[in-house]
Amino acid sequence: MTEIRVLTDEAQYRAHSTLFRRAMHWGPPTDEQWPIVLPSYEPGRVLAAFEGDEMVGTTQSFGSSMVVPGGAVVPHAAVSRVGVRADYTRRGVVSALMQEQLSTLPEPVATLRASEGRIYGRFGYGLAGRVRFLRIDAKKAVIPGSPAGRVRMVDPDTSDKLLPELHAAFGLDRPGQISRWPGWWARALDRKTEAENRVMVVHSGPDGDDGYVCYKVSEDKDFKHSMEIEDIAWANADAWRDLWIYLTRLDLIDEINVDAALDDPLNWLFEDPRVVCTKDVYDQIWLRLVDAPRMLAARTYGVGEPVVIEVHDKLLPANDGCYRVSADGAERVDQQADITIPVELLGAVYLGDTKFSDLAAAKRIEGSRFAEADALFAGPVAPLCSTFF
Ligand SMILES: CC(C)(COP(=O)(O)OP(=O)(O)OC[C@H]1O[C@@H](n2cnc3c(N)ncnc32)[C@H](O)[C@@H]1OP(=O)(O)O)[C@@H](O)C(=O)NCCC(=O)NCCS
Repeated sequence: MTEIRVLTDEAQYRAHSTLFRRAMHWGPPTDEQWPIVLPSYEPGRVLAAFEGDEMVGTTQSFGSSMVVPGGAVVPHAAVSRVGVRADYTRRGVVSALMQEQLSTLPEPVATLRASEGRIYGRFGYGLAGRVRFLRIDAKKAVIPGSPAGRVRMVDPDTSDKLLPELHAAFGLDRPGQISRWPGWWARALDRKTEAENRVMVVHSGPDGDDGYVCYKVSEDKDFKHSMEIEDIAWANADAWRDLWIYLTRLDLIDEINVDAALDDPLNWLFEDPRVVCTKDVYDQIWLRLVDAPRMLAARTYGVGEPVVIEVHDKLLPANDGCYRVSADGAERVDQQADITIPVELLGAVYLGDTKFSDLAAAKRIEGSRFAEADALFAGPVAPLCSTFF
């Protein structure tokens, strides 16, 4: 009989970390790594499944907040470290963990990154945001004109304090973006010290610091230099353009790799838009509406005729019901539905990445008036979550 417990002490956290890492085929955390990993264990949010005294499965969440379409910021749970011991898989362990976690999360919405696309739909998570992996031919990348502000390199001591402040000030710039918790920064700052050539650069304009980028350059045996952008954020178009002027005018660099939103206009910065090549598009945000009425009311909607949507949620039946969505907002109603949708697919359309009409074409939802629903749920910008967890 699987029992789910909330873990409370460091020894259990370390066992949790070891179990999760082994499920991912990684080694356990080393003594050197552990002090940096430990702050990411938030009391009350770490769950494990037990068979008798043996820990056999893990999950946890980090308390955060998320931007929804229209710009409101709502409490959000970042779910992570989901793993089951290899000798206990396919016996319902993760199902028990997910049921307990979803029933006890204080936040109205949860997101996660999925190792495989078939795992989380059954738990009500839908694929709600994708990202483009871009490669820029740095030798041909020319941005005409001069920078408007200036950039400066900062040392790790400065960036440890400054970057969290800057991210809090302007990192929540799109639907799907989430705030970062202290344990996230502890891991990220550690990642910066792992390699001696990680570089942090801050941009300032007339109103002070308004952009930053963290990157790392590696060199192969043929002296080819590749840059990975690990973190980039900006408050305004001048800061964005100036950071890219800096990055593309660096000596020796052959290519720059970066993740960007589907609608990121980066190619328009360059004289030759072909220097930006989309190498891949992959799924990023898997979103679970924990409190569907609250989340439907939290976002804004586009113009269009109202539609009534009937939601079905096997794990959280409090979400079941009909919701009237119009340009003025969303509310629970007792009316005939136009569209019937399971909660994971409502999660998929929530941030605007997926359309009702596409789900209908794929025979994933039933009803009518999909174009009206598309118009209501469409947003001016594509979602993105630049915070990996
Ligand atoms: C993925 C994982 C967490 C699933 O745990 P589990 O305890 O085996 O899952 P359950 O037994 O509760 O399975 C529930 C259902 O999901 C299905 N399922 C689980 N994992 C699946 C997978 N990777 N692919 C397809 N189906 C899967 C099961 O077949 C089962 O279906 P059923 O209810 O129709 O019988 C576990 O296999 C694991 O730890 N994998 C390696 C680490 C990993 O990928 N973690 C996720 C990180 S995001």
